[in-house]
Amino acid sequence: MAILKIARMGHPVLNQIAETVADPTDPEIAQLIGDMLDTLQDAAGIGLAAPQVHVSKRVVIFFVPESRNGEDEEDTPAELTVMINPVIEPLSDETNLDWEACLSVPDLMGAVERYSHIKYSWDTLEGNREERIASGFHARAVQHECDHLDGMLYPVRMSDFTLFGYAEDINRNIELMRRGHGLEDGAEPDLRIVEEG
Ligand code: NI
Repeated sequence: MAILKIARMGHPVLNQIAETVADPTDPEIAQLIGDMLDTLQDAAGIGLAAPQVHVSKRVVIFFVPESRNGEDEEDTPAELTVMINPVIEPLSDETNLDWEACLSVPDLMGAVERYSHIKYSWDTLEGNREERIASGFHARAVQHECDHLDGMLYPVRMSDFTLFGYAEDINRNIELMRRGHGLEDGAEPDLRIVEEG
């Protein structure tokens, strides 16, 4: 087990389409996931994708803390989940705008439109296929992490760059920001959004 270096925006590994894992039970994948778990814990994050540790493979780890639990009954906390070859299917066209941050884009945050309701599936380390339905923050976290596997960082999903900036400053000016953009009360930023600790 080892703490790996996290790639930051500007490193080409973050822009590549990651490779499908042919054999999820390969011990090398278990080793990679062990190192990713150490790295996530060290960074105090809630999600990490393999390209963020310079490995262009379709592997994601994440959890949803109780504190992020939303009102929607499918916006549930999630225990630490290891996903190999994850696939997302939106369950409706409904989207919502909320804040995200990323361990590969330190200090910054931005508001991103995401699907509100999704189904997602993945291979486990034992080689089984599992699936879940999720909404709200839980669904957002999965979409953010899986975007890393397609070479996308959250800023490329943004449409309003006045909702992009230093987390410290956005948090300081949040009332003005919310009023100016008609954001819902629920869309309140804090420093523990989506990925960053
Ligand atoms: Ni990220």
